[in-house]
Amino acid sequence: AATKKYQFDIQVKNVSRLCHAKAIVTVNGMYPGPTVYVREGDRVLINVTNHAQYNMSIHWHGLKQYRNGWADGPAYITQCPIQTGNSYTYDFNVTGQRGTLWWHAHILWLRATVHGAIVVMPAQGTPFPFPQPYREQTIVLGEWWNADVEEIEKRGNQLGLPPNMSDAHTINGKPGPLFPCSEKHTFAMEVEPGKTYLLRIVNAALNDELFFAIAGHNMTVVEVDAVYTKPFATESILVAPGQTTNVLVQANRVPGRYFMAARPFIDAPVPVDNKTATAILQYIGIPNTVMPALAQLPAPNDTAFVLSYNQKLRSLNSPQFPANVPLNVDRNLFYTIGLGMNPCPTCVNGTRVLASLNNISFVMPQVGLLQAHYFGTKGVFTADFPDKPPTPFNYTGAPLTANLKTSQGTRVSKIAFNSTVELVLQDTNLLTVESHPFHLHGYNFFVVGTGVGNFHPAKDPANYNLVDPVERNTVGVPTGGWTAIRFRADNPGVWFMHCHLELHTGWGLKMAFVVEDGPGPDQTILPPPADLPPC
Ligand code: C2O
Repeated sequence: AATKKYQFDIQVKNVSRLCHAKAIVTVNGMYPGPTVYVREGDRVLINVTNHAQYNMSIHWHGLKQYRNGWADGPAYITQCPIQTGNSYTYDFNVTGQRGTLWWHAHILWLRATVHGAIVVMPAQGTPFPFPQPYREQTIVLGEWWNADVEEIEKRGNQLGLPPNMSDAHTINGKPGPLFPCSEKHTFAMEVEPGKTYLLRIVNAALNDELFFAIAGHNMTVVEVDAVYTKPFATESILVAPGQTTNVLVQANRVPGRYFMAARPFIDAPVPVDNKTATAILQYIGIPNTVMPALAQLPAPNDTAFVLSYNQKLRSLNSPQFPANVPLNVDRNLFYTIGLGMNPCPTCVNGTRVLASLNNISFVMPQVGLLQAHYFGTKGVFTADFPDKPPTPFNYTGAPLTANLKTSQGTRVSKIAFNSTVELVLQDTNLLTVESHPFHLHGYNFFVVGTGVGNFHPAKDPANYNLVDPVERNTVGVPTGGWTAIRFRADNPGVWFMHCHLELHTGWGLKMAFVVEDGPGPDQTILPPPADLPPC
């Protein structure tokens, strides 16, 4: 194992897209930011120096940070932000994980432009469990706004108004030729006929689950969220914000130019956004004047495709990479997801949208929850987040007025060390049904079951997959449906869980778990680093 060092300078840079120039916050002036390359077993030191006028904090999305929440990054959960002119070194080990993950700003909506891929190569001498690709390529999907993203955020968070839709989707920061002034802002990847390529695809968009396809070429899915899967071929993939997907692509078609395309999946009664980002898969030697072939994507509301695609996602579950699904559950949790109108005297119509889990909309604290927990500071949070919603109801039917009442608080759920947890996330009809990609920090979890409508505790668990369910860190809860996940709480610390649609996170669709220390000397939270940013 080696020590890998990176320097991240947070700086503002002028960038032009869609015929507009604007200043954006970047790492090292790059958009998307630099890819972090490490090997399983490495220690990683990333010094972040903040030269911008915004507070900053960086999250290494999907890295478990065992006992080491100090390096996890969500602002006011595991650290206070790095203020202008200050630095902080994220110091962590990458153990027991390999694959594609990503990093992003975890404060305000700055992750719109402050993000990049993380590539964790398998330990030296350990091959991939699939044919060695000839070359690999990171593909970072994103969203672009012509307006200042922090202005858009204020609209959504302070006024409680829905945000403006983004002006473009992007592939490696570029929207592609279907957008104005974007001929030059088109990502192209060159391939040699007959060779196999590994694409490491990240969805860094703020608010859109995205379909992705390549004209004329099937993809073989081999990994999601840095966990190997049973390989399967597909024409399109779905990647929710926060998720990553590795696919193998064979350059086995008539040499030419082929579009790659990304467009949102939206099956909820919200405005449909069907802007398509494109990039080009270009066979070597083919001139740029050749028209690329168009890519076929599922229709924006193709729920059937999404259900069948998710069905196909299975853990590899090989002797070398077993799926250790918890078979018994120590703690059963049931959380309803709600979006509701709430009184707001300072808002435009006197009301605003709040989002909630079990009717609680999470309020961000002023100091880091991890510090408060570690040092026993009182008055920062209460450890009384309920295991169930206040009243059971027909979650996907007409909501009772009583169910619309949302309280606000910084409430967390305490979990005993090493206990096995099952969490059922139930989407509800409070305001609107919508698919929500939920992300848990500090852990991977197994997606043991999912369904549409209301979860039935007496009958649905009988259909769980406890053999080879997909293991990941972010899962899409279906529109008007539920998802059951299981994990073993073996990583002590304070771990954020939230919807990875930034709009919903801002409305309060988040909470945190406090996983208690274990009895062993190596089962406790590590001491904080000396340069941890002060609050
Ligand atoms: Cu990718 Cu809490 O975030």
